[in-house]
Amino acid sequence: MMKIFLNKALPEAGMELLRHANLELLLPEQELSSRAELIQYCQQADVVVGLAAKGFDEDFFVQCPYVKAIALFSVGYDQVDIAAATKRKIPVSNTPDVLSRATSDVAFLLMQSVSRLAAFNFERVKSGNWPTQFQPTLYLGQELYGKTLGIFGMGRIGFELARKCKAAFDMKVIYHNRNRRPDMESELDAVYVSFEELLMQSDVLSIHANYTAASKDLFNAEVFRKMKTNALLINTARGGFISEPDLYEALVTEQIWGAGLDVSDPEPMAPDNPLLTLPNVCVLPHIGSATVEARNGMARLVAENVIAYAKGARMPTVVNAEVYE
Ligand code: DGY
Repeated sequence: MMKIFLNKALPEAGMELLRHANLELLLPEQELSSRAELIQYCQQADVVVGLAAKGFDEDFFVQCPYVKAIALFSVGYDQVDIAAATKRKIPVSNTPDVLSRATSDVAFLLMQSVSRLAAFNFERVKSGNWPTQFQPTLYLGQELYGKTLGIFGMGRIGFELARKCKAAFDMKVIYHNRNRRPDMESELDAVYVSFEELLMQSDVLSIHANYTAASKDLFNAEVFRKMKTNALLINTARGGFISEPDLYEALVTEQIWGAGLDVSDPEPMAPDNPLLTLPNVCVLPHIGSATVEARNGMARLVAENVIAYAKGARMPTVVNAEVYE
């Protein structure tokens, strides 16, 4: 019987499918606390289900030579060295589509929260800082109607955000991506631009690309200098895209207007991170896919990938399709 290791239990929608699939499930009774423990379990497994587990790198594959497939509970797959897996013909699956609405909702929420300083204003109310005298120019936000939304990485999540921004605020959509997306251009009137143009034209710039080590600190001081002074930077992808010290500097020197982050590097963000002191910053604890609907969809998709693999079929949402060539 094929052995499936899960570092944590999936939401029930996925566990139920796995339990009915004639598989041996290896599930630790307690939360794993070290890489050594993770490796020890994975050494006994044919398939590894990774829920926020990191470090599936060359060393992992050397130490766990019997692992034959990896099913991730995330759309991002930066926790896996895909080249190392592909070299060994190990398919890696992710969970696209089922979380696109939920994650783009969080980008939309951050955009609005920052543009109206909502999180900061909520803190004011909680701390008794609601002046009795009306102040006509205090803590003013900015409106989003007719502004330009720049999408960095036009995949499914970026597309969903662009659709919402167009419908709600009639925003103009520009995007930068590895390849042109004619389907999205026609559906959203989206215009493909260079990275430089994206920086120079966006009033709201939202990051939705896949993260790799090559993108570390891509959004840095030099980039912030090219952005508009009224620009909002939104990140629901991976924290590593942004140099947080440079972002702080860009915000306090008013090179850009605000930032909404659902991700940070490292995670969790340290509570004394200076970004948390700024009124024009809203930070959420990586809740992009944290809805019942999205998490159930992710759980089912993980189970479907595992079951397909166990039956000798192609994993339906494989990332490295080359392994099947
Ligand atoms: C994803 O699905 O990639 C989310 O960011 C959770 O890691």
